[in-house]
Amino acid sequence: MKGPEFRHIQACIFDLDGVIVDTARFHYQAWKKLADGLGISFSEEDNERLKGISRMESLEILLEIGGMSISRAEMAELTDQKNKWYVDFVRAMTEDDVLPGVSDFLQELQSHGVRVSVASASKNAQLVLQQVGLIDVFDAVSDGRMVKRAKPDPEIFLHSSSQLGIPASNCLVFEDAAAGIEAAQRAGMVTVGVGSERSLKDADAIIPGFAGLTIHQLCSKVFRNGTIEIEFGKEDDNAEKAKIL
Ligand code: BG6
Ligand code: MG
Repeated sequence: MKGPEFRHIQACIFDLDGVIVDTARFHYQAWKKLADGLGISFSEEDNERLKGISRMESLEILLEIGGMSISRAEMAELTDQKNKWYVDFVRAMTEDDVLPGVSDFLQELQSHGVRVSVASASKNAQLVLQQVGLIDVFDAVSDGRMVKRAKPDPEIFLHSSSQLGIPASNCLVFEDAAAGIEAAQRAGMVTVGVGSERSLKDADAIIPGFAGLTIHQLCSKVFRNGTIEIEFGKEDDNAEKAKIL
């Protein structure tokens, strides 16, 4: 019988909204305000469809939910308005808004020589990272201004792996959105869903969050129904090193 495939992880790529910080609720509140103004009923469940995708595509879905059709110019005005409300929330963020366990886990990864980056569809990614004091922690940041195609297209994750200089098959991605999991899988990366099994059923493994998470714990998780095992370090590392990590 064929054993599991071993994946040697040399870089971790983090989605931003809903993974490092809880900005997903700010996006929701800003979209909800816009929807209310347009007379569109918009629930948190509807908002799941907007996670991970671009600003303009989010508006297209919102208008589709409301059965509305407007001009491109009006759409641009609405996305600008939504973004102003969203940025107001972001400007009030501080270091305390980094989600529990994220900073410790980043430190552990970096102390073991694992490269770390952010790959976010958001054009506000740099601003958010600045607000919460993480801008200098990551080796690279790929954001919505640097790519043409939004998640579920793999472009942003491939951009990130090339910025880090680590092959896609040696990257592991943390994502809270179904579109992001699909994008990372299409990029050929190992995926970890952050959140609930219900919306992230296609992820290779799931964690509820980063609180208390260690490299050791992550490696002991079941990946893709046991068909993949992960180790941190290079392929030619000896077994002893893999064990230490
Ligand atoms: C993603 C969020 O990270 O960024 C989406 O999950 C959001 O909800 C998208 O629409 C684009 O963000 P921004 O900040 O460019 O409007
Ligand atoms: Mg997200």
